[in-house]
Amino acid sequence: MRVDILTLFPAMFLGPLQESILKRAQQRGLLTVVVHQLRDYAFDRHQMTDDVPYGGGAGMVMRPDPVFRAVRSILDCGAENGTARGFSAENGTARDFSAVPVVLLTPQGRRLDHSVVVELAQHERLLFICGHYEGFDERIREHLVTDEISLGDYVLTGGELAAMVIVDAVARFVPGVLGASESAHNDSYASGLLEGPQYTRPSVFEGWAVPDVVRSGNHAKIAAWKQEMAIARTVSRRPDLLEGDGENCRR
Ligand code: 6GU
Repeated sequence: MRVDILTLFPAMFLGPLQESILKRAQQRGLLTVVVHQLRDYAFDRHQMTDDVPYGGGAGMVMRPDPVFRAVRSILDCGAENGTARGFSAENGTARDFSAVPVVLLTPQGRRLDHSVVVELAQHERLLFICGHYEGFDERIREHLVTDEISLGDYVLTGGELAAMVIVDAVARFVPGVLGASESAHNDSYASGLLEGPQYTRPSVFEGWAVPDVVRSGNHAKIAAWKQEMAIARTVSRRPDLLEGDGENCRR
């Protein structure tokens, strides 16, 4: 999978991408993350990426021109794998690269959850646009992006942390990124249930013993107990996961 990220703060991505599983995935060639400086696509003298809002109001608004220019350039130059068709001046359509989701990170987007992560993980390529101002010129929403995603009902200083969260969550579903023992498909949310309690050594810690069943060696009994605990935990903590048609994870 290849992920392009458009941001005014590329350095924010250095740490999270250079540790642990994301580092290993990149070393193995399973994941390529390319972080682009949006300012490089602002061609005016002051390399402005934001401007005052028409009609007045507080804060600055992200200008459309550098963002369009950057997305077109990024998708064109990546066209060798056949997934990004880029723009052509002749047809003038804004979404001629529909194979590559162009995702705006914004608190106004649909809320990220397991099903959105799995959906994004189906793509060979993704492009994220991180905003850092009060808002985006509406033409970015209307004519450039194909999706808008939010982490939840609170406001961050910018989309960068959200992009990192999504890259991390999506990478876990790229084949080979997780080892067999880490498999993403047994996780809470994949099964629709929260995982129940887990124990490791020592068998007695400060007087607290692990439940006899997990040390019984009876695998059928252990599996039944785990299932029972998972249901109990889901009922007590996240009853919403058990309601309805399984679509309750969305939005
Ligand atoms: Cl994607 N961006 C910003 N700025 N704030 C957020 C968010 C995104 N998701 C939740 N809050």
